[in-house]
Amino acid sequence: MEISVQDYARECAKQGLRGDYLACRPDFTVEQAYDYDDAQQKVWRTLCDRQTELTSRLAHKSYLDGVATLGLLEQIPDFDEVSDKLRERTGWEIVAVPGLIPAEPFFDHLANRRFPVTNWLRREDELDYIVEPDMFHDFFGHVPILTQPEFADFMQMYGERAGEAIALGGDEMITRLYWYTSEFGLIQGPGEPLKAFGAGLMSSYSELQFAVESADAHRVPFDIETVMRTSYEIDKFQRAYFVLPSFETLREAFGALDIAGLVRRFKDEPPLDPATV
Ligand SMILES: [Fe+2]
Repeated sequence: MEISVQDYARECAKQGLRGDYLACRPDFTVEQAYDYDDAQQKVWRTLCDRQTELTSRLAHKSYLDGVATLGLLEQIPDFDEVSDKLRERTGWEIVAVPGLIPAEPFFDHLANRRFPVTNWLRREDELDYIVEPDMFHDFFGHVPILTQPEFADFMQMYGERAGEAIALGGDEMITRLYWYTSEFGLIQGPGEPLKAFGAGLMSSYSELQFAVESADAHRVPFDIETVMRTSYEIDKFQRAYFVLPSFETLREAFGALDIAGLVRRFKDEPPLDPATV
């Protein structure tokens, strides 16, 4: 069911969300008015400097390569400039949004290789934690890995196929796939060290270290059916992290997945417990 910008803006205001949703176009995008002040630029650099200390050690090389290609660290990125560079690599671009947007336009953007990025940044007193995803999470977390060709294909396919799952009542199942890959995914190729690529990890100082380095983190080999059946945590550390052997594995597994069959078989069953999966 399509929701209008006005109705959605009213809903967001009621929930106290920060973005200016009334400025949205019908596809829920807005202009990135590049009017950030010095204090905001400083918050951006502080976040990037602090997190880069960790990502340089713990992030997958494709992610680091993406950061270097897109040049995100010196100042708040100009969305159009980054889009030009990203388009050259994988055909993706960035669109500005005021924050979380409804599922339908979100999937439509992904299906068309447009990644929605929030146009505002957290405040200085929120460096460690913010409830809503902001520009740092969306940009620093999600965008660099869109330079990786197989992952970029997966994300487009996700946008194309998510609606199929939702139409059959598989909302939770399809969301778990995004959660355990795009947000909290780990990867370890044969003979390579364990690394992270998920945006929820990239934008979190404490959980990135926990997921990759802690002996207490529960790491499980990636299996797409298991992923889609396993529940997850929203505001504490994940109790399971799934480890891909390669981005190609993710693209192949999702491309070959019988979504309708899987949803029908498992949507009414209780989810698997991440602690014991
Ligand atoms: Fe995210």
